[in-house]
Amino acid sequence: MVLVSSPGKVILFGEHAVVYGFPALASAIDRRIYVKAEKNSLGKIVIASKGKKTSFSFKSLKRRRGEFRYILRALKIAFDTLGMNFGVSIEIDSKIPRAAGLGSSAAISVAVLKAAYYIAGEDIKKGKLAALGHRVELEVQGSASPTDTATSALGGVLFIRSGKAIEKIEIRQDISLIVGCTGMKRSTKELVAKVKTFKETYPNIAEPIIASIGEITIEARTALANGDYQKLGKLMLVNNALLDALGVGNMALSRRVYSAIKAGAAGAKLTGAGGGGCMIALARENRELVLKALGKRAFVTKISKEGTRVEHL
Ligand code: PMV
Repeated sequence: MVLVSSPGKVILFGEHAVVYGFPALASAIDRRIYVKAEKNSLGKIVIASKGKKTSFSFKSLKRRRGEFRYILRALKIAFDTLGMNFGVSIEIDSKIPRAAGLGSSAAISVAVLKAAYYIAGEDIKKGKLAALGHRVELEVQGSASPTDTATSALGGVLFIRSGKAIEKIEIRQDISLIVGCTGMKRSTKELVAKVKTFKETYPNIAEPIIASIGEITIEARTALANGDYQKLGKLMLVNNALLDALGVGNMALSRRVYSAIKAGAAGAKLTGAGGGGCMIALARENRELVLKALGKRAFVTKISKEGTRVEHL
């Protein structure tokens, strides 16, 4: 039996632009998903989640639909790469809100992969875990950037650019982040498609906006490494305005961004695909005021330096 946990994530800078080859900065957060796994002699996959147990045959591992599709795909990829199949019972306990852009599907994918390798008696290195996790998301969703799975597997703050090696950014002091969630579920795929249509229809307008987001992310990387809090806050607001310009903002997000600023945050922006989901605020001095201004679905979070890990029972 093993208990594995993986963190959720927020995108600090660069969402959507990362789809077009510009960098993104993402951070693992201290909200985790927990996966308890052990081999069983039933020759089946048994998944327990929210007090409900469901059994699957090995044939169902190919599923791309249904509630447990990420878990089943992660197991398939683990079995394929390990070169063996075994019955396994899995119990899920998630502290990451779902479909909110906080990386819950990536976290579950990498945690299940790590657990399957562990109970097969094999170690899996973080780089391979991130790569296999990305494969799970690609196979389930059809398209996905490596941002979420890499952040969940590796932890910390990552500078990610498609086709380039992922860089871990050393942070001198923790940045106080508050996550404010709208409670509105949204589809990343649809929002990415919306930006694509805008870019194809008005390339002269959309392309400079996307390139500016890329520049902001590069500036933010230095500001983060230097602990330049005020500059980070400013960059967040500009990034948010550009995401609005791309058409992925909405009233629920904007209201939270400006409420956070009014309550004393140094900066705020939507995080992830937009259209609902969550936003983030930087608030070191006025944390309680900002938290209150963001309402009941808001929470304070820290950067999780650790990615996927085996919890010692
Ligand atoms: O919705 P999220 O948090 O998974 O973020 C999506 C980020 C995008 O840049 C919009 C898409 C991507 O694949 O990077």
